Amino acid sequence: MRWSPFLGIPILLAIISYIVFQLFPNSCTYFPPVRLFTVEYLAPYNGTDPGLPILLGILGSVFDVTKGRDHYGAGGGYNHFSGRDASRAFVSGNFTGEGLTDTLHGLSRAEVKSIVEWRDFYFRTYT
Ligand code: HEM
Repeated sequence: MRWSPFLGIPILLAIISYIVFQLFPNSCTYFPPVRLFTVEYLAPYNGTDPGLPILLGILGSVFDVTKGRDHYGAGGGYNHFSGRDASRAFVSGNFTGEGLTDTLHGLSRAEVKSIVEWRDFYFRTYT
């Protein structure tokens, strides 16, 4: 069987890509590394430990908001958003107890859109 360059070149590129990705898994800027956070894992990143980054969840996406420590750190006005996904509070303004929940149940379409816009803000402003 003759070795066709039309087949050989794509296969070679695929093998090289595979090796590079195995060697440098976090190097691809188009596909940042995917990490899955549980509620328990996220909780300590709530700004109380100055040695840890501050993480904030919204609509299931997790952002590093450490550079906004003044807002999100201990004593900050938006500290209740840290170490959890409190998506609902972005429209309810209820920053206490049951208000700090990720459930969107019963919200209007406009309210859900407003939360999506907050998430866009985090995509623009934080990692
Ligand atoms: C539902 C109610 C509210 C929510 C969910 C909310 C949420 C937020 C969030 C997420 C930020 C961005 C912080 C950042 O830069 O990462 C912010 C900024 C800010 N908010 Fe609110 N906010 C609310 C109500 C208010 C009210 C009532 C006031 C004023 C009395 C206020 C004043 C401010 C100010 C001044 C900033 C800018 C802080 C700065 O960049 O220094 N917010 N807010």
